[in-house]
Amino acid sequence: MKTILVLHGPNLNLLGTREPTIYGQDTLDGINQRLVEIGQELEVEVVALQSNHEGELIDALHGTQAAAVVLNAGAFTHYSYALRDAIAAIALPVVEVHLSNTQARESWRHRSVIGPVCVGSIAGFGVLSYELGLRAAVQLANRTDAHQPAKEVHPAKENS
Ligand code: DQA
Repeated sequence: MKTILVLHGPNLNLLGTREPTIYGQDTLDGINQRLVEIGQELEVEVVALQSNHEGELIDALHGTQAAAVVLNAGAFTHYSYALRDAIAAIALPVVEVHLSNTQARESWRHRSVIGPVCVGSIAGFGVLSYELGLRAAVQLANRTDAHQPAKEVHPAKENS
């Protein structure tokens, strides 16, 4: 059975009480439980990990035996080149997810530095973002020709 790694970044341990009008009332445990259930339907093992520490997320990416990753990098999304490089360094499809619609929020949330090295991004659907992300990750894991993101970024995009 294939494994899908679900990685949650900083402050997501506080889901349920953290700004519920933005992030909803589901707890992280509740979200993970739902993903495990969907995983059973889709015949994959779901392994979830949350960390507030950039290095731990990077170590998890380096060390995973999973076939694909669902990643909510929290605020690291917007500035962590180290996380971006870790995603680029591993030969695994990574699906970026966000509970909130980051494009509809503060301008500093509009940019994802990890986006160009992820296969795709799902944002703004609350817990459904994770569910859709998991379904996408399972499809990618089951494809023999799993689409790999362009690991090279066009120089013209570097400064945008
Ligand atoms: C988030 C959006 C980020 O901008 C924010 O820093 C988070 C959560 C989301 O899931 O909507 O921590 O990734």
